[in-house]
Amino acid sequence: MCGIVGYIGKRQAYPVIIKGLKRLEYRGYDSAGVAILNGDTRIFKCKGKVSDLEDLVKNKNMDGSIGIGHTRWATHGEPNDVNAHPHASQNGHFVIIHNGIIENYSRLKHRLEDRGYKFKSETDTEVLANLIEYIYLKGKVSAEIAVRLALSKVIGAYGILVICKEERDQLIAARKGSPLVVGIGDGEYFLASDATPIVEYTHSVIYLNDSNVAVIKSGELTLKTIKNDTLTPEIHTLDLDIGEIEKGGFEHFMLKEIFEQPRSILDTMRGRVVTEKSEIFLGGLFHVMPRLIQAKRIIIIGCGTSWHAGLVGEYLIEEFARIPVEVEYASEFRYRNPVLFKDDVVIAISQSGETADTLAAIRLAKNECGLVLGICNVVGSSIPRETDAGVYTHAGPEIGVASTKAFTAQVTVLAMIALHLGEKRGFTSKEDYKEMIKNLTEIPGKVDKILSKSEDCKRIAELYKNSNNFLYLGRGYFFPVALEGALKLKEISYIHAEGYPAAEMKHGPIALIDEKMPVVVIAPKDNTYEKIVSNIQEVKARKGIVIAVVNEGDTVIKEMADHVIEVPDTDFALAPLLTVIPLQLLSYYIAVLRGCNVDQPRNLAKSVTVE
Ligand code: G6P
Repeated sequence: MCGIVGYIGKRQAYPVIIKGLKRLEYRGYDSAGVAILNGDTRIFKCKGKVSDLEDLVKNKNMDGSIGIGHTRWATHGEPNDVNAHPHASQNGHFVIIHNGIIENYSRLKHRLEDRGYKFKSETDTEVLANLIEYIYLKGKVSAEIAVRLALSKVIGAYGILVICKEERDQLIAARKGSPLVVGIGDGEYFLASDATPIVEYTHSVIYLNDSNVAVIKSGELTLKTIKNDTLTPEIHTLDLDIGEIEKGGFEHFMLKEIFEQPRSILDTMRGRVVTEKSEIFLGGLFHVMPRLIQAKRIIIIGCGTSWHAGLVGEYLIEEFARIPVEVEYASEFRYRNPVLFKDDVVIAISQSGETADTLAAIRLAKNECGLVLGICNVVGSSIPRETDAGVYTHAGPEIGVASTKAFTAQVTVLAMIALHLGEKRGFTSKEDYKEMIKNLTEIPGKVDKILSKSEDCKRIAELYKNSNNFLYLGRGYFFPVALEGALKLKEISYIHAEGYPAAEMKHGPIALIDEKMPVVVIAPKDNTYEKIVSNIQEVKARKGIVIAVVNEGDTVIKEMADHVIEVPDTDFALAPLLTVIPLQLLSYYIAVLRGCNVDQPRNLAKSVTVE
């Protein structure tokens, strides 16, 4: 949430920053700004997208080899020119950009006001800029000391970049709760809130940890804690390719990511599903497997789409491994004083690995539970670093704000965990294990087949693009898929949509059904097939429009439904991986036909690093 870019070195900073901001725009896009330090500090910022910022700086002098830039997702203060970052301190000594929330900003602001500070914006960031300046002037200390002392007074989360007018060959970065990565070039440094703006310049990076301060001065980086303890930087190599973060000929990142799923699901299984031996090997869980096998209960936590994947995980683990599973919204779990035991295992699921609520839930669980695991997509992000062990999904960077390939990768990991546990605990026979592994390896090919018929979804999208409401129904494994389908539609097309367990429809939503209501029913053959056929009849009896996702060759539902979208057969425990694909496509095409900005839906951010 909010994108941060900084550069210090020998090149012109502005082109690096603007390009980086474009790559980060998926993290926030309500306003943007840049500051270049070259003698004095020049700040340009405006409401709107990075392209508006580009228009603003046209024909301006952007010369300088130190700079910071920001693309914002508003927390404090509405999105406008004044609240946009960077923020300068009152006397112009400091300019900062900030991602996160300073919780005690109001108290700090009052104290600064008592000392004569006046504020132009409504942001917590300006408070921090002024606090740093106040300490700098009052204490007559260096910029670095002023930053560290100011941060020691701050409660909340931050990833900040700071430049000081008087200390011209220096850029300071600090982090607590909001991610920051430093890319190391040849006598130059690239800073960003994730690695996507960095990868085209260097693959050597340092991930800042909480309470770290990086001071880059005269071509040298020093890493410290806020308390001034010197640290040895750990240099990592980025496993990321520039092609992965470009659109590759697709109109939108979301479409590209939907179409990448045959490959991304395969990558999630690569080296883990060993077909020749009919074995699943999860290297990241190897050392903790004995404890996982003994778990009395598994608690899955996540937010948004990751929470939906967790629900599928509940069905999978309970069915194959017979371990009781609870799935919790991270934001609820962390505040409701949950009862936890030492033999509970917590699994946190997150695409970004940075979601604030999920991180906070992990920290709570770590105090009480024996084992906390992570299922994450972004390598080196905070969640994998804070959990005891885990599994990377390896789906590749997901840029589209609406999550697609991350969901199928997460479900694939959960299926592997469930099957492996099932076999080890003796609840899944060798034959079933072997058969399920075979089914799993066939999923990428089947996804490919569904994608080859994407035009069917486009045709249906044309017919219902102007609907005001949609209902999504599913039972068992397809209830979470219904939730995910409804979420996708809401997120990118702004159509109200609800996902419901099909049988529960009678207890409320059925009252909504009329001849204008499209009802998407996820109905491949499973143990509740007959029941869902009855649910479809109930919808039709009330003149609802039924769009059904069915198995190839299904004739029963085809007779009743207004439209059917076919998916290949598989074991129904794995069918969420197939049935979700047409729902992603349907929401994508509806949003495009409605003229919505699919990759940057209003009010949303890809990575929610605030509570
Ligand atoms: C945001 C994104 C969603 C995502 C959710 C959880 O709301 O827009 O797509 O599912 O955060 O994010 P995580 O990175 O933890 O999976």
